[in-house]
Amino acid sequence: MKHLLTTKELTREEAELILDVTEQMAEAVTGREVPKLPALRGRTVVNLFYEDSTRTRTSFETAAKRLSADVVNFAAKTSSVNKGESLRDTALTLQAMGADAVVIRHPAAGAPQRLTEWLDGAVLNAGDGTHAHPTQALLDAYTMKKRLGDIEGRTVAIVGDILHSRVARSNIWLLTKLGATVRLVGPPTLLPKDIDDWPVEIGYDLDASLKGVDAVMMLRVQHERQNAAFFPTANEYSRLYGLDERRLALMPDHAIVMHPGPMNRGMEIAAAVADSPRATITEQVTNGVWVRMAVLYLLLTNGESK
Ligand code: CP
Repeated sequence: MKHLLTTKELTREEAELILDVTEQMAEAVTGREVPKLPALRGRTVVNLFYEDSTRTRTSFETAAKRLSADVVNFAAKTSSVNKGESLRDTALTLQAMGADAVVIRHPAAGAPQRLTEWLDGAVLNAGDGTHAHPTQALLDAYTMKKRLGDIEGRTVAIVGDILHSRVARSNIWLLTKLGATVRLVGPPTLLPKDIDDWPVEIGYDLDASLKGVDAVMMLRVQHERQNAAFFPTANEYSRLYGLDERRLALMPDHAIVMHPGPMNRGMEIAAAVADSPRATITEQVTNGVWVRMAVLYLLLTNGESK
């Protein structure tokens, strides 16, 4: 593995290795007075974010620092991108400053792939348009493993705005590779047109689709990516596809509630459900740091030093 662009391109063995190293990172750092490992001392990780982020950017920054790397945070909004500088020139400038890895979030699908053609170092996709968000899927899978014990044979419902969701795509590729059944649930207008070719079950009735699940992943309605009226009103969406306490009771007792964040509380998920002990939302954030430590470590050292 030289880059991490999508979960589609990972083999099952590579995905399982990342999850194993994630566990090792969590064990190595948890409880330490100084939660740091020396593995990436002398390396530089650049966070190149052309889109807003709370979790992913800070998580990559924390992960790199816990591995003792130097971190440069680049926000397009306050850079020479505003003066018209291209992605290629920006990337080459950062490389000239000694970047060993570039973590990129970009509104255009395929931007991380383009970076790999220009840069010598590792490229990690932190979300590109509606295409992929591999570390989100990996941290989701790790969270399921921790809570449910295994992924093979589990059923995961992904609910809501599948059409615009890079998180959904990345989870479908990863979870099916790891042996889970994925059930997509949402209004027909928010399901992709080519969905019949995907290796998933499809449902339009959330109550029925929650029966027998091991995990439900609620997706944010992405107002910023929607350029058409995909559903009549927010109230109607919430009534048909929101996870409230009544629907939580339809799920098996062991089943967990996930959300990648940021949430629209009261729309796709009720506040009482988001704050319930069955929700893993803050655990997902914690686990994201271990996952990103694992992928930075594997890409930058080829797994050879710790
Ligand atoms: N889940 C996720 O990608 O969150 P951010 O947009 O805050 O990074």
